[in-house]
Amino acid sequence: MTAQPKLSPTTDVHVLYQEAVQSPEADVRDIARYFKKLTGRPARLFREDFCGTALLSCAWVELGSDRRAVGIDLDEPTLRWGETHNLSQLSEDARARIDLINADVLDVRRPKADVVAALNFSYCIFKTRAQMLAYARSARRSLNRGGMMIMDAWGGSETQTICRERRRLHGCTYVWDQVSFDPVTYHTDCRIHFEFPNGRKLRNAFTYDWRLWTLPELRDLLEEAGFADVHVLWETTDRKTKKGTGNFRRAERGDADRSWVAYIVGRT
Ligand SMILES: C[S@@+](CC[C@H](N)C(=O)[O-])C[C@H]1O[C@@H](n2cnc3c(N)ncnc32)[C@H](O)[C@@H]1O
Repeated sequence: MTAQPKLSPTTDVHVLYQEAVQSPEADVRDIARYFKKLTGRPARLFREDFCGTALLSCAWVELGSDRRAVGIDLDEPTLRWGETHNLSQLSEDARARIDLINADVLDVRRPKADVVAALNFSYCIFKTRAQMLAYARSARRSLNRGGMMIMDAWGGSETQTICRERRRLHGCTYVWDQVSFDPVTYHTDCRIHFEFPNGRKLRNAFTYDWRLWTLPELRDLLEEAGFADVHVLWETTDRKTKKGTGNFRRAERGDADRSWVAYIVGRT
């Protein structure tokens, strides 16, 4: 595991993002384990949709020399940044097992993957049911038989309010700013800012114009797209502290938490 860098106003914005919201090693470890548990075989080819700087793809290929990854993103400069700063940190062998594709996730079906992952709610850029269904169908067609689609989902009453959450990082404060939420359309405008001890602020480092999708909507859409065994992984609660454990289990019911993250899974 790499040491946590000290963040400052001159730190590259992609590094700030990665430190603030991504946990690549834990994510790929959990996805690989869950795939094995679900299918009884190891996942080899991992497709990272909306990959940005391809941090998950880099962590995936480090799981073993039989693992390959494909990262897809529309934004070429972000992909190139990932190549220069993330892929470049890998051994030559690991780097050769990643392909980055500069395209719309809706347009890529090959190579067929064992896992398609869409994390950090990136699919929320799809605002209509037709678009979301097209994405689910396209993802299903991109998977091998016996493959798995996994997406995270975010909800709870707090996600439907206007509020700010601050979290201290090493050298700066990360601010998640929910600027608007419309209960009629479920459209939300969220932003990420960074604040530094010297008073400098990096406002609107990242902005999100999203539709918040609910778990029942996503379940219906994945089923309609042809996925089998569509289910939700819900975070377990520590009996003593009553807080989330960071572990997720298949569940038919959740808790009415004010803010929660869950995963939705479908099989091919
Ligand atoms: C929130 S970032 C996700 C970064 C990273 N994968 C993560 O999990 O934190 C969303 C990314 O999705 C990309 N994106 C948006 N629409 C897309 C589309 N239709 N196809 C591919 N990439 C898209 C953007 O360029 C951006 O890099």
